[in-house]
Amino acid sequence: MSRFEGKTAIVTGGATGIGLATAKLLASEGANVVIAGRDERRGTAALAELAAIGGKPLFVRTDISDEDAVRHLIGRTMAHRGRIDVLINNAAMFYESDFLQETTDRWRAVFDTIVNGAYWCTREAAVAMKEQGGGVIVNVSSINGIRALNRSSHYNSAKGALDQLTRCTAAELSPHGIRVNGVAPGFIDTGLSVVGGENELETEWFKRYYVGERKIPLARPGQSEEVAAVIAFLASEAASYVQGAIVPVDGGLSITF
Ligand SMILES: NC(=O)c1ccc[n+]([C@@H]2O[C@H](COP(=O)([O-])OP(=O)(O)OC[C@H]3O[C@@H](n4cnc5c(N)ncnc54)[C@H](O)[C@@H]3O)[C@@H](O)[C@H]2O)c1
Repeated sequence: MSRFEGKTAIVTGGATGIGLATAKLLASEGANVVIAGRDERRGTAALAELAAIGGKPLFVRTDISDEDAVRHLIGRTMAHRGRIDVLINNAAMFYESDFLQETTDRWRAVFDTIVNGAYWCTREAAVAMKEQGGGVIVNVSSINGIRALNRSSHYNSAKGALDQLTRCTAAELSPHGIRVNGVAPGFIDTGLSVVGGENELETEWFKRYYVGERKIPLARPGQSEEVAAVIAFLASEAASYVQGAIVPVDGGLSITF
């Protein structure tokens, strides 16, 4: 099956975790993937993995929290590939932070990455997509976007805003043939699960509450590939009538209380 044959797909934060799994899946189905990430070494390693799979991959060193860097990313992509068919807004950061100890600079850094980064990427890519007659955008949100969590006001608030960006752009970009959807992962086994040096998926409380008591009905964390599969579906023609949806990929976590 080659759902993305010859298509150009940008994946932000595509050198690790869910982004890398998505980049590899899209490449395996014919896409020329452009990875946007901050770290040259990780980007080069990811590029080698993609090259072994297929397509014509490209790494563009990009800090998506910098508007000029996003313009550079889109410019390089257009110069190399001439079009943008798929944009996966995946990059994000997470750290635990007591609300009363939070600083404006740190709060802004989270919003600049999760909300403004996705806004700049969407805006710049949508200009190219409109010109070429359409395109697809998938935003990687989180179930944190619809739930409260202690020590995570910055991240949860930003993901909630990203969900609204998904819905609003889905509505407004529809006349240009652009579909916009999102996924909302739950606990996924990636580097982001390591908080304060500890992998939260390996802690006793996680095993007891989320797995043992089936707070996650499927009683396990998810894998990056399981999120990538849903992202690729939303980015594919099979989802041609899906617009503005935010699909949970959380083993059922968000349906329990
Ligand atoms: N792992 C989980 O449990 C989980 C749960 C819900 C949502 N998510 C979301 O999934 C997405 C991918 O996260 P992941 O779990 O694969 O973790 P990850 O840390 O492997 O991936 C995040 C990537 O984004 C990159 N990034 C961060 N800031 C950036 C910036 N300013 N510019 C460019 N790149 C930047 C990081 O370097 C990293 O490569 C994120 O949006 C995250 O919020 C993850």
